[in-house]
Amino acid sequence: MIPYLTLPFSFSSSAWLWATSIVKPVINDFQTNAPLEAGLITPDNDQLRLWYSSKCWQELQDFFQPIGLEGGDIQFFYYKKLPRPVKDPRGNPHIDTTGPDQWSGDKHDINFRFNIVLLGDEDTEMFWWNRDRHNQGVESKEFPRPDGIPAKRLQARGENRDDQYLAVGEPDWRCQSLARLNQEASFVRTDILHSINWTGRSPRFTLSIRFQRPWDIIESLRKRVALVP
Ligand SMILES: [Fe+2]
Repeated sequence: MIPYLTLPFSFSSSAWLWATSIVKPVINDFQTNAPLEAGLITPDNDQLRLWYSSKCWQELQDFFQPIGLEGGDIQFFYYKKLPRPVKDPRGNPHIDTTGPDQWSGDKHDINFRFNIVLLGDEDTEMFWWNRDRHNQGVESKEFPRPDGIPAKRLQARGENRDDQYLAVGEPDWRCQSLARLNQEASFVRTDILHSINWTGRSPRFTLSIRFQRPWDIIESLRKRVALVP
């Protein structure tokens, strides 16, 4: 098992232009108002209506359909550009979860995502540890969402980053070639501990389609992709 699969993926030029333009106010709002330096942005209903009726969404569905995936939920991730880069770029090793209110909480795993970087560096590094929610080193913690509402998440046990990274040890997998702007995007497994190294030097915006389907679908896809001459 490898917890990522990078594939050629591009939007048409009009869809790419639409996507990168429509997220600008979202980026500005988060950059100015969000209490966190980085986080998940749950689009509001008006934004979601626009996205789900967009050419981007149609192009994504055309991409997912032969894989046996359909649907998925649109989410955004934004990492702020900071006035000065952070001293410790190590991200929080965590597991993506949701519910019971659909958007927050730690009840259900988000098994994987298809992440498309719309803005940011192409060599941002992601780490994974082979530990799921049942591992002793994973605990449930409360944290503030960008809108201020508290939510729960599963993360590596520890009071701070040093504690957490001491406890989890070296990552089992790492990759820093997960994205090329409008050329490549990646399926990433998110039901085991994972984190992103991020300095705050550049802003980073990811369009993330989350799935609660089994990761096996992506392993089958990997085999099929390998067979294509
Ligand atoms: Fe995550």
